[in-house]
Amino acid sequence: MQPALAHTIQLIADSGAAAFYRGSIADTIAAQMQRDGGLITKEDLARYRPDWREPLRSTYRGYSLISMPPSSSGGTTITETLNILEAYGPAARFGSAERVHAVASASQRAFIDRNSKLGDPAFVKIPLAQLTSKSYARAIAKTISRDHADPTSRFASGIREGNETTHYSVVDRFGNAVATTTTLNDLYGSGVYVRGAGFFLNDEMDDFTSKPGTPNMFGLIQGEANAIAPGKRMLSAMSPTIVLDPKGQLLLIAGARGGPRIISATSQVILNIIDHRMSLADAMNAPRIHHQSYPDSVQLETGGFDSAVVARLARMGHFVYEKAGVASAAAIMRVKGGYEGFDDRRTRGGAAVGY
Ligand code: DON
Repeated sequence: MQPALAHTIQLIADSGAAAFYRGSIADTIAAQMQRDGGLITKEDLARYRPDWREPLRSTYRGYSLISMPPSSSGGTTITETLNILEAYGPAARFGSAERVHAVASASQRAFIDRNSKLGDPAFVKIPLAQLTSKSYARAIAKTISRDHADPTSRFASGIREGNETTHYSVVDRFGNAVATTTTLNDLYGSGVYVRGAGFFLNDEMDDFTSKPGTPNMFGLIQGEANAIAPGKRMLSAMSPTIVLDPKGQLLLIAGARGGPRIISATSQVILNIIDHRMSLADAMNAPRIHHQSYPDSVQLETGGFDSAVVARLARMGHFVYEKAGVASAAAIMRVKGGYEGFDDRRTRGGAAVGY
């Protein structure tokens, strides 16, 4: 039982956001800050305003995607990755070295842009139209060779190499769909528990570039565009995404937890369904890969790929390593006569429920 958290939620249900940002919950947070020598004041909380940002819209092989705009990098990086893959050509067989090479190289290029160019658009000018355009993706696809990997350092200029998030997808009987990701960042966030209010404070500051050239907790090496500034929102990888089929009908609601691997997991669930025609269960269970530009390597989920494929990728010049867990996704797909929900086998404690 969590009576303090229940009380907090009740206060928000009764009085809305004001209870949190200006009312008694704000008092409780400020008191916790004083006890622990923290920096957040009641005035900081009262000044906070949510900001409505138009969802990002893109297409992939005739399907439409609606995803999260900056200051999350999720929708932008998924869009750029998928646009590059579309321009690269038809998808090779799932699990083949050719396919892993294509997806890893597209992710590598998209993450180079993510890590160097993206930040809160209220503070930095970001080339969103360019990064999400088909012509830009075509130019990038031309840089991907068919038979060898390129080092990140060839394309990344200006950047040198020197858990706790939840996603849920919901749909009602009318087809209204919601994809939500919410994050504390690390496990138990900052580890600071607000006594009396029943929740932990996040450690989202690590999603900023706290020091250029230095990796954050996810190994991401990011640029000045994502530097810390007062009132600025940090760059996230959250990728809540809705996919419509070529007729414009709802097909998929997806997203994940897992730091930058959120982008890879969400992209690959979408790719598995559109390119490899998998069922939702297969698309979610299929082994995933991850390339975030730096470290300049491709993670292959342990045991997911033939040893001959792993050896071939290494010969192509990819630095490959096997490690379990490329994020945990949660998704719902429209199927004949209704919907199918699936929670990732990589998740502990998640579930798909119908009502
Ligand atoms: O917004 C982000 O990109 C990170 N705060 C997400 C962290 C995360 O997914 C950790 N959890 N499993």
